[in-house]
Amino acid sequence: MKNHIKIFDTTLRDGEQSPGCSMNLEEKLEMARQLEKLKVDVIEAGFPIASPGDLESVKAISREIKDSVVCGLARALPKDIDAAYEGVRQAVAPRIHTFIATSPVHMQYKLRMSPEQVVENAAAMVAYARKYVSDVEFSAEDACRSDPDFLVKVIEAAIDNGATVINIPDTVGYITPTEIYDLITYIKNNTRGIEKVELSVHCHNDLGMAVANSLSAVRAGVTQVECTVNGIGERAGNASLEEVVMAIATRGDFLGAKTGINTQQIYRTSRLLQAITGIQMPPNKAIVGSNAFAHESGIHQHGVLAERTTYEIMTPESVGIPKNLMVLGKHSGRHAFKTRLEELGYELSQEKLDEAFKMFKSLADKKKVVSDRDIEALIGGQSVQVKSEHYRLESFIINSSNTVSSTALITLIAGDEKIENVARGSGPIDSAFNAINLIVGKEFKLVDYSLRSVTEGKDALGEATVKLKNGGNTVTGRGVSTDIIEASIKAYINGVNKLLANV
Ligand code: KIV
Ligand code: ZN
Repeated sequence: MKNHIKIFDTTLRDGEQSPGCSMNLEEKLEMARQLEKLKVDVIEAGFPIASPGDLESVKAISREIKDSVVCGLARALPKDIDAAYEGVRQAVAPRIHTFIATSPVHMQYKLRMSPEQVVENAAAMVAYARKYVSDVEFSAEDACRSDPDFLVKVIEAAIDNGATVINIPDTVGYITPTEIYDLITYIKNNTRGIEKVELSVHCHNDLGMAVANSLSAVRAGVTQVECTVNGIGERAGNASLEEVVMAIATRGDFLGAKTGINTQQIYRTSRLLQAITGIQMPPNKAIVGSNAFAHESGIHQHGVLAERTTYEIMTPESVGIPKNLMVLGKHSGRHAFKTRLEELGYELSQEKLDEAFKMFKSLADKKKVVSDRDIEALIGGQSVQVKSEHYRLESFIINSSNTVSSTALITLIAGDEKIENVARGSGPIDSAFNAINLIVGKEFKLVDYSLRSVTEGKDALGEATVKLKNGGNTVTGRGVSTDIIEASIKAYINGVNKLLANV
């Protein structure tokens, strides 16, 4: 019989903590809804003591999510646990996750605590959290560089005081697959009460072994794996959810394991996170990279055509990659569009459907045929548009040459008003962004800008992403169009709207 492995997603906590991945409340909620559709067992929604914004988003996610456990992180301190409880208390299934470091280097230099004090503190804080909720996870931070016998002592103290989940983090991505197998086996064989709790791993990817280590821990008998979508997270990231899940789905025979994940939602979840954070996957990224299922060499193509399994160990459909079908054109009506969206798994509110249909029509005017990938690019980004759009693009005229500086005339709509301005810049995009800054009356800092093609061909959709900074606030803006300048302008306006919504 296969072990059921629970998937604990920490994209909104460990993932969000990493540079360039911060999300606002609306974006976190959107991501949490998608994680629920993916059927993750646990959503770690944030670190409520970290900031009022973190607390608010954990609360909002707790109110909305019904099918997954919602978890809030807390150091082993009463004030952190109070805040975590405040965050998750409205959830259908709330969990408090408390942690303290157990490795010699962390205890001596970071905590300045003796091993005895650490054991006492772990015990007391698990008991404190248990007064609030019946589901308490305890993590021994830097467990994989800790003395195994000391680790066992701390874990026993946590279990004695009511911990329901024990998590073994490889906080600095140091351990190797064989070692983690041995460590988990040692813990299982030597810890009093371990059979009563869920045993979990949480691996970082500093040496590129986070997924391999997680799977080795699965073989050794853990029943929960902590991971993030696209593997985002501190430094080199966390174990990638899609890789862990698809490895278990594909090699469950060897691993003796299965998950409850709806794998057909994997691609959409990955794309949503890319749209929100602006962090794109390299083409060769396993499972969700654009080349992950592409067979380039003649020998491979021939093999796959003759028998798919010659070179394909899983299908693109199994992770929900839309087939690049020629589906709709400019004469397709609202009904055909809505039906295609439903076939692709999108359920949009009436308002979002109206907006999406408008975007589809204007795209169909420019392109002869609109493929599933085009639709996915339009809708994937649409869901993360800001609620209250302060500015909308009316028109742009840009004069650009390689001999003089560029000039942009931009017209935006704000409410009932049309506002226009002209600016120069070192190229068409720079001048357009400068003109928008003049209209808005603010000098936003452009931290990053990227452009990619959604599909192939001259009339392919371009997707532009910008990262804009205003004071301490950084946001990601996204825009799509068959015209890369328009895509860039839309991305900039999307970023500006997000910044204005935050002030
Ligand atoms: O990497 C780590 O140790 C963590 C813990 C808080 C679980 O993220
Ligand atoms: Zn971590």
